[in-house]
Amino acid sequence: MALYCLVSPGGSPGVTTTALGLALTWPGRVLLAECDPMGRRVLPGYLADRMREPAGPGLLGITTTDANDSNVSVRLEQCVVPLDDDGHAELLHGIRDPRHTARLTALWPLVAGALATRDGDVIADLGRVGGAETPVALLEAANVVIVVLKPTLAQVDAVRPRLDVLRSLVSSRGEIGLCLIGDGPYSAAEIKRLLRVPVLAELPHSPADAQVLSDGARPRRTFRTCLLVRCFNRMGHRLRVPTETTPMPSGAADTTEVARRAEAHPIRRKESNDGNALDRSSIAHSRRSHQ
Ligand SMILES: Nc1ncnc2c1ncn2[C@@H]1O[C@H](COP(=O)(O)OP(=O)(O)O)[C@@H](O)[C@H]1O
Ligand SMILES: [Mg+2]
Repeated sequence: MALYCLVSPGGSPGVTTTALGLALTWPGRVLLAECDPMGRRVLPGYLADRMREPAGPGLLGITTTDANDSNVSVRLEQCVVPLDDDGHAELLHGIRDPRHTARLTALWPLVAGALATRDGDVIADLGRVGGAETPVALLEAANVVIVVLKPTLAQVDAVRPRLDVLRSLVSSRGEIGLCLIGDGPYSAAEIKRLLRVPVLAELPHSPADAQVLSDGARPRRTFRTCLLVRCFNRMGHRLRVPTETTPMPSGAADTTEVARRAEAHPIRRKESNDGNALDRSSIAHSRRSHQ
């Protein structure tokens, strides 16, 4: 299946929130892999009151294995935990202590290989890219790299050099696209023209709903059908290439198709109601929910 890497130019535009929102609404089996060297967020946030079994070691558990391909794949599966109730979404939670990043440095190529060949799609949260600790191997293995940013001058300025690096890293079968969060002085068309990268999605600035995902805040009654969740849902359907319509020997997504479809049917911030966008997620069963 496909590996989707979500990254940012810094400034916390909402990479983790978007990665989690996508995973919970993803139209198929999916693993959310927290690979941000700066630390995990889902376990002490969204899952804080939702975990029903031991969280296990997560990504750190991989460092306790002999470093060879098959061992890392097997160990990775042992470190995965459910993210929702119906089992369609799973989580490989990230490291807590950034000092542990050094232990992962030599293993990133094997982790990338294991994630890229996993049965089911993988959404990897890499956080801010550009620093020495960026897991470059994941970017090289990605089918799609999604750069999350706000449409502001500061973010556009920060993203330019990082896009240059990403272009040199992402393989010929990979693709780079943008996900814009909230309003800013630039329109999606201007950002696309300035950066010469397709805009795959525009998400609304919805602080209350975003905090349900980023901090485990209590969801509003209308959370499951709110605009932000509907946008995640639409974004996932647009990004994911159904395997039955795109048989590829390598199992890789037809990523040119991803950008073409995204541009033909852009995700607007003011879409009509899609129905129960999150009704397959654990939010429906949350002990914190009002419903
Ligand atoms: N679409 C959004 N609208 C409003 N606030 C958001 C949105 N996405 C994320 N946030 C908020 O931004 C902050 C940072 O989010 P996070 O996902 O942790 O960013 P990053 O992973 O890029 O550092 C959190 O408080 C989160 O609730
Ligand atoms: Mg983050």
